Amino acid sequence: MNQSKNNLISDIAEFLDIDEKIFGPYTISYNQGDVVQKRGLDEDKQSNEYDNQPEIVRTEEPTSPQTIGDRLKACTTLEELRTLCEEADELRTDLEGTNLVFGVGNPNADLMLIGEAPGQEEDRQGEPFVGAAGQLLNKILSAIKFERDDVYIANILKHRPPGNRNPNPDERVRSLPYLLRQIEIIQPKIILCLGKISGTTLLKKETTLRSLRGQFYPFHGTELTVTYHPAALLRNPQWKRPVWEDVQKVRNRYDELGCKP
Ligand code: URA
Repeated sequence: MNQSKNNLISDIAEFLDIDEKIFGPYTISYNQGDVVQKRGLDEDKQSNEYDNQPEIVRTEEPTSPQTIGDRLKACTTLEELRTLCEEADELRTDLEGTNLVFGVGNPNADLMLIGEAPGQEEDRQGEPFVGAAGQLLNKILSAIKFERDDVYIANILKHRPPGNRNPNPDERVRSLPYLLRQIEIIQPKIILCLGKISGTTLLKKETTLRSLRGQFYPFHGTELTVTYHPAALLRNPQWKRPVWEDVQKVRNRYDELGCKP
């Protein structure tokens, strides 16, 4: 009898042990003669074998990183594009600490002028063509009856290269998408490239300035033409006549196209 009692107690103990392992802790109390088994924890707080599993945290579907093309397309105003340019390390040259020279002028201009890259004075003031070449450019513009504020002026590069060297091919390639977006936003009817670097970069033609000038090329819905850079004109006064011819053609084409007076 004692033996079977002991067996029964050990069976019950084993059962309770297994039960606790599976369903969690409990207490036993007596209620009017009935044994009531109470779990020690609320049903939803009971520990079970899943409690130590790592929690599955739902995250947003991974999105592919925005390309620079997407970010440029998202800019619909010059202010938005300027902000993007301010953040863009790829627009920088290897000269440290330069300022962004984004562009200046009438945001709705029908005539856009594009130079090469900012020089020292442009970097200091954050505005294109404000040095000696800029003074000459203002005179050229006024000779064909434009105020500086009538047109929009930008450069292939938006940062100054060291020692006023020519923009290198890599810098031009990195800067071009930003300039193209700037052109798309402004939608000029005519683009006048100032100098060989500007003309060959935009037309993607490696040739001499002499062979580029004197024609209007279709370019992204506008017409593009090329003349000598004002800085080159300061060093080579014999180019005054060809520049005068080129800018007169620009003025005539501007009027023919019915551009804003
Ligand atoms: N030369 C350029 O090409 N751009 C400037 O802004 C100034 C000088």
